[in-house]
Amino acid sequence: MLRGGLLVAIATCVALAAARTSGSSDDIQELLENVDLRYSTDVFEDANLDVPELITKYRYPVETHTVTTEDGYILRMHRIPHGRDANNVPNQKKPVVFIMHGLLSSSADFVIMGPGSGLGYILAEEGYDVWMGNARGNYYSRNHVRLNPDALLSTAFWQFSWDEIGNIDLPTMIDYALEVSGQERLHYIGHSQGTTSFFVLGSLRPEYNAKIISMHAMAPVAYMANNRNLFLRALASYGDDIESIARLIGIGEFMPNSVIFTWAGQSMCRDEVVFQPICSNIMFLIGGWNEDQHNSTMMPAIFGHTPAGASVRQFHHYGQGITDRGFRRYDHGSRISNYRAYGSFRPPNYDLSKVTTPVFLHYSDSDPLAHVNDVDRLFRELGRPIGKFRIPQRTFSHIDFIYGINARELLYDRIINLIKAMDANAFDEVNKIIESTEQ
Ligand SMILES: *[C@@H]1O[C@H](CO)[C@@H](O)[C@H](O)[C@H]1NC(C)=O
Repeated sequence: MLRGGLLVAIATCVALAAARTSGSSDDIQELLENVDLRYSTDVFEDANLDVPELITKYRYPVETHTVTTEDGYILRMHRIPHGRDANNVPNQKKPVVFIMHGLLSSSADFVIMGPGSGLGYILAEEGYDVWMGNARGNYYSRNHVRLNPDALLSTAFWQFSWDEIGNIDLPTMIDYALEVSGQERLHYIGHSQGTTSFFVLGSLRPEYNAKIISMHAMAPVAYMANNRNLFLRALASYGDDIESIARLIGIGEFMPNSVIFTWAGQSMCRDEVVFQPICSNIMFLIGGWNEDQHNSTMMPAIFGHTPAGASVRQFHHYGQGITDRGFRRYDHGSRISNYRAYGSFRPPNYDLSKVTTPVFLHYSDSDPLAHVNDVDRLFRELGRPIGKFRIPQRTFSHIDFIYGINARELLYDRIINLIKAMDANAFDEVNKIIESTEQ
């Protein structure tokens, strides 16, 4: 009798438990179907995850690769080898796209906005093997075999500008991506400094042009004579002083404390906080900002990843370009040190005619950092400029190329169509896209 009762009780428990598990897995299933995995599910969580964690959270495959440059910098690359919803079969050889971030940014730029608008995810869905670089000195590449980025009273780690990023980091990362993927050539997409450093690469190490099928420059920056960014202009006037003072007191990194930004991003830039407009204005100062393309809800996530670190000299080098209106190697400030570095008293120009990769420039009317006249001059001087594309929205600005609400429709879709046409050697298709774009 007792035993019978016990059995019934156990059976009931098992049945209940079974019912509960099946119910809860249904719940999870339902939850997953209702979560829109194209947008951020939680901007505060996204602010605190690093790039591989973020990509994993949105259920994409991710790999981290480390390379060491010939001068000892240890760089980390992030790879999304295939898509989640489409083109999602692992271990298939796919065409490679290498994407390079801008000043103060990192590979996070291409995933922060989520699978619906992040360029890294979009390319993976389109069937590409996506490699995202990180320049020396940023959050993911703040390591060296010998030098310490945080050394007191020594700026040895930070003695580089985007000249070294283009001349040394890019070829190291590109060769590595080609080797691991088993490809001979790849497509390159850069934003801002990610375009500057590419033009450095193509002119100083012209043999690399043959490894690039096509290059897409988003907000291209080479000439800066017409730069209208107040911050960079101010820096241009004082750049020499700023760098020597900073070196004197042992600071080589620009704004080292990005923790402050993460904190400020989450406490002051969140929705429903009165300070949010101030955050928008900071973003405006840094990179140009535009009400039409700006999703203020995403600000905590953006400030969790940006600024990601840079050297004082990267700014200084841009400042020199504003002052002397040229596109030259870094000016070491004295005839002797220039002579030692370049064999000439003045820093040599980057010879853009040596950049023989087919280049596509994507620019906008109101980008304060890539003025239309400077973009035109760049286009004229490049070795093999193929197309120049104006974003069909007047207000589109410098950081909208990355964080803009409609970046996909206004920009990424066209870049992908161009890449596909270049892959297929369909040059009439390329011409058709060029002709259909208002210049
Ligand atoms: C802004 O971002 C939030 C959070 O990712 C998203 O839910 C919303 O749809 C975005 N708004 C637009 C207009 O894209």
